[in-house]
Amino acid sequence: MYTQGLYEIIKKKRTAEDTFDITLSCKDLSELAKPGQFVHISVPGFFLRRPISICDIDRDNGTIRIVFQVKGKGTKSLSQFETGERLDLLGPLGNGFKLLDCDKKVIAVGGGIGTPPMLAIAKQYGENATAISGFRTKDLVILQDDFKAQGNKTILCTDDGTAGEKGFVTDALSRCIEKEKPDIIYACGPIVMLKAVSEIAKTNGILCQISLEERMACGVGACLGCAVKMRVNGNEFYGHVCKNGPVFYSEEVVL
Ligand SMILES: Cc1cc2nc3c(=O)[nH]c(=O)nc-3n(C[C@H](O)[C@H](O)[C@H](O)COP(=O)(O)OP(=O)(O)OC[C@H]3O[C@@H](n4cnc5c(N)ncnc54)[C@H](O)[C@@H]3O)c2cc1C
Ligand code: FES
Repeated sequence: MYTQGLYEIIKKKRTAEDTFDITLSCKDLSELAKPGQFVHISVPGFFLRRPISICDIDRDNGTIRIVFQVKGKGTKSLSQFETGERLDLLGPLGNGFKLLDCDKKVIAVGGGIGTPPMLAIAKQYGENATAISGFRTKDLVILQDDFKAQGNKTILCTDDGTAGEKGFVTDALSRCIEKEKPDIIYACGPIVMLKAVSEIAKTNGILCQISLEERMACGVGACLGCAVKMRVNGNEFYGHVCKNGPVFYSEEVVL
């Protein structure tokens, strides 16, 4: 079930290079939203909506939060909306992450701008979640204080070592698993990272869900703008990121 409407921006800040953090007042949408789902945002002058993951859900205050990076003209235009203005949102869309009991141990791995949806899912598990986040360099680092504030353990990695530890999230993930095997791994980020995380999960026999932020058009399963090859019980077929995903069990997608 989803809704569509104009929702007011009640907070906006620039949190890293070309990265914006926006809180929207949207009571109906916040009540429906689950971690891992996304909103499809209409940008004036553009035919296609832009998909952005839900980064945080606050049902008490009737808000959701999105964090996005300027990539092209659509997100540039989105970044120019200010507090008090309203955005046309369709959502929540997609299936969201599988939630285990909150006393289970989880690892949430975010790569770059794939980090925002990890905040919402890690929130469900508090101190039982370890958030491993990776960025190219310190100017791109986001959400580390937010993970800590909700009780999560954090490991920050940068490719160039300018913040946190130097190295890839996959090195940190392997190290964490050696210490304690989690019940599930959640991940969102570049395909190359998702492939490596899926491989680590498979080798260690750990349940793993990945969120694919592939190109998207209609967002509701009506076109083929987001086809992804899937393999379920040995049968290969094409699914839709927007309808079957964006969250998939890692063994069910062919990356
Ligand atoms: C489920 C999902 C969740 C996402 N969550 C986030 C998020 O939380 N934060 C964030 O910064 N980005 C996120 N993205 C990526 C974001 O949607 C794109 O960066 C954005 O659509 C680019 O639009 P643009 O007009 O700036 O770029 P342009 O390249 O000018 O876009 C042209 C067209 O391509 C589509 N497009 C381009 N790149 C992507 C892409 N990577 N994914 C989907 N469509 C694309 C646009 O919708 C548009 O139709 C998400 C993508 C998906 C599919
Ligand atoms: S974006 Fe149209 S089917 Fe997925």
